[in-house]
Amino acid sequence: MCPRPYRAVKRAGRLIHGRINMDDSCRASDTLIRTLYHSDNKIGESKINKIPATLIEGDGIGPEITEATVDVLDALQAPFEWSRFKAGLAALEESGDVLPKPMLDNIRQTKLALKAPLTTPVGEGFRSATVRLREEFNLYANVRPAHTFIPGGRFEDIDLILIRENTEGLYVGVEHYIPVDGDPRAVASASGIMTRAGCRKIAEFTFDYAIRHGRKKITIVHKANILKKLTGLFLDTALEVGKPYKDRLEIEERIVDNTAMQLVINPSQFDVILTSNMFGDILSDEIAGLIGGLGLAPGGNIGPDASIFEAVHGSAPDIAGQGIANPTALLLAAAMMLEHVNEYDKANQLRDAIKAVLNEDNVRTGDLGGNATTVEYTKAIIQRLG
Ligand code: NAI
Ligand code: MG
Repeated sequence: MCPRPYRAVKRAGRLIHGRINMDDSCRASDTLIRTLYHSDNKIGESKINKIPATLIEGDGIGPEITEATVDVLDALQAPFEWSRFKAGLAALEESGDVLPKPMLDNIRQTKLALKAPLTTPVGEGFRSATVRLREEFNLYANVRPAHTFIPGGRFEDIDLILIRENTEGLYVGVEHYIPVDGDPRAVASASGIMTRAGCRKIAEFTFDYAIRHGRKKITIVHKANILKKLTGLFLDTALEVGKPYKDRLEIEERIVDNTAMQLVINPSQFDVILTSNMFGDILSDEIAGLIGGLGLAPGGNIGPDASIFEAVHGSAPDIAGQGIANPTALLLAAAMMLEHVNEYDKANQLRDAIKAVLNEDNVRTGDLGGNATTVEYTKAIIQRLG
C-alpha cells in the first residue's frame, strides 16, 4: 500500500475525476426506491418489499442505542431489512479490522446504512474507522440538522442545518513527526488537503439542498484570513458556486471563531451553515449544545455511491454498558434515513413520538435531566407509536 500522503493525494485525484453531482442524495434515493420497491400492479394491493440496509452496531454505547433504535423501527414497521455487523473495537477483536470486509461489501450492495458510533484511540493507535468509512464510500457531504425538541431552553425554535465537507481538509491523515536531537517526536506536522473539485461538490450540494428544503440563507464558514490557501479555496469556490443562487438565497461568509461566538449569542441569525471538515466537526457539537446536547443531534453522510446515517455523538465510553444512554440521536438519524427512502410519514411519526415522550410523558434519559433508562425511554416511544 502506498504511504498515506500519496493515498490522500490519490483520493483528491479521485474527487477531481470522480462523478460530481449536486443532487447525489436525491438520485441515490430515487434509484434505491426504483430498484427496491416492487408493485404487483393491482390497484389498492400494492405490495412493498423490504429495503436491504446495513446496520453497524458500533462500540461503547453503540450496541445499546442500536438495540433501542431497531426496536423502535420495528414498532414503526419501517421497511428496512437489516444485515447486521460489528465494527470498531468489537470487530477488531473478532476479525482483526475495525471495518471488516464483509461489512464493507454489504454496504457496497445496499448503498444504505445506519451506523452507531465507533471508538477511536486518542493520540497513538488506529485511524478513525468513521473517517475511513467516509473516504471508502466517498461520502462527501455530512448533513447535521439541529432542531428544538424540548422547548424552554435558553433558545426557542432552533432550526439550523450544518453541512460539512466530509472527506478533505485537515482530516485526510497526512501527519508526521520530525525527530530532532534524539527526540523522535520533537516536531509534529499535519497537512490539510482541499481540492477545487471537492469544494465545488460540497458547495453545489449545499446550495441545492437549501433550495430543495426551502431554506433562506447560507453562511459559508472559513478561516481564510489565516489559512489563506486551504480555506481560501473553500471560500472562493463556494462564493463562485453561489452566484447563480443570489436571487433565491441570502449568502454570507464568516470567519469560524466569530461564528462560534455568534452561535451561542444569537443562533437565529443562521439558517444553513456550509463549512469544511474540521470546522464542521467542532461547530456541529456546539450546535448540538443549543438544543440540549449530543443526545439529540443526528447526521447523514451522503455520497454518490452510498448514504450512511449516524448520531453526531461518539461512543460515550464514560456511560457505556450502564443502560442510561440516550438513543434519540440515532433514532433521529433513522428518521433522516426514512426520508432518504421517501418514507416521510414514518419519519414524521417517529419525530412526533419522540417529542411526545420528551415533553408530554416527561420520560427522559439522564443527559436531558431525567432518570429513565435507555430501555424505559425506548418502551415509552414504542407505546406512543402503538
Ligand atoms: P462523545 O460524543 O462520545 O461523548 C461526549 C459526552 O456526551 C460524554 O460525556 C458522553 O457521555 C455524552 N454523550 C454522548 N452521547 C450520548 C448519548 N447518546 N446519551 C447520553 N450521553 C451522551 O465524545 P467523546 O467522549 O469525545 O468521544 C468518545 C469516543 O467516540 C472517541 O473514541 C471518539 O473518537 C469517538 N467518536 C466517534 C464518533 C463516530 O463514530 N461518529 C463521533 C465522535 C466521537
Ligand atoms: Mg465529532
